[in-house]
Amino acid sequence: MARTPLPVGLSYRGKTALVTGANTGLGYAVAALLLRHDISCLILGVRTIEKGESTKARLLQEPATKAQGETPDILFYTMDMLSGESVVEFSEQILTQVPKLDIVILNGGRKAGMMTWNYAKSSFTENESTYQVNHLSTAMLAVYLLPLLKKSSAPGQPTHLTIIGSALQLFSPFIKKPIPDDRSVVEYMNDPETFSTLNRYSDTKLLIGTFTRELATRINPAQVIVHDVDPGILDTDLGRNVPGPLKPVAKVFGWMVAKPPHVGAAVVLHAVERGNESHGKFVDIEKVKSATFKNEEMGRRMTEKNWKETIEIVDKFNPESMKRALE
Ligand SMILES: NC(=O)c1ccc[n+]([C@@H]2O[C@H](COP(=O)([O-])OP(=O)(O)OC[C@H]3O[C@@H](n4cnc5c(N)ncnc54)[C@H](OP(=O)(O)O)[C@@H]3O)[C@@H](O)[C@H]2O)c1
Repeated sequence: MARTPLPVGLSYRGKTALVTGANTGLGYAVAALLLRHDISCLILGVRTIEKGESTKARLLQEPATKAQGETPDILFYTMDMLSGESVVEFSEQILTQVPKLDIVILNGGRKAGMMTWNYAKSSFTENESTYQVNHLSTAMLAVYLLPLLKKSSAPGQPTHLTIIGSALQLFSPFIKKPIPDDRSVVEYMNDPETFSTLNRYSDTKLLIGTFTRELATRINPAQVIVHDVDPGILDTDLGRNVPGPLKPVAKVFGWMVAKPPHVGAAVVLHAVERGNESHGKFVDIEKVKSATFKNEEMGRRMTEKNWKETIEIVDKFNPESMKRALE
């Protein structure tokens, strides 16, 4: 794993950043690192008020936060990414209560790692839950928050939309064999017959990755830099969904291969700092890449289909949100 240090003297004083899934793992580490680099206002997306309160208290106790000259504002808002309504409500609160957003890090993800064991539908949307959280709700957040990101940019100072992806997207079976033309992405992803414990996570990370790149083609990087980033293999709550007997294996894997979350957090901020060259790209740890399908034409068709279907859902929950995002 390449380790390019963050710029010397990096300071986010005066800036506002939003991090989802901030109560644990990579999200918490990113929040703590932003505070270490003087962020003035930090907005946390968490699932419950209790998680918000305890995360805020922990962050304020971090030595680097205490060492800051000024006490930062730490606010939290609740959201359950299994629910489209909850994502809309969260976004509306941000748009109406937060005056500006310089950095948005969409990190919240269901069942990190390959630990997506069983098919389960979101009881709110009836979509398969990993597809809902990792792809649909993440896409919704990106689109709903874009107007504020755009409004917050200034000449020579683009804002940042960083989506936490995964290098496992490059191993999604869709790379070799995209969803057939006669099946919709939504229907395919919701079909229990197509669900695979091994592939679901990588498939959803590919879908959000291609969506992110499509979105980026419609956004001026002088206004908002949009990309997805792999933070590396991290020892987070990766194995929390692993069945009991396999938990020790997940632990050993963690010790042997994975890095502590703060290492991944530095990778994420490093990607944020990259700027223009990363717009519309997948930043694989610290290398800027483009995920390519084996059969480019079929991959293009699947990408377009995924884009159109996702936008329909994004707009169904929040009418005309895409139009507002692209204005
Ligand atoms: N760990 C790795 O090796 C690795 C590698 C590449 C990419 N990533 C990506 O990094 C991101 C963070 O992963 P992590 O390893 O830090 O995982 P984690 O420790 O399991 O944290 C996941 C975060 O997402 C939140 N989340 C899950 N389901 C949610 C829902 N329905 N609504 C709202 N929030 C929800 C969790 O909140 P709760 O605590 O309330 O569940 C938690 O804050 C994920 O997108 C993951 O795919 C991780």
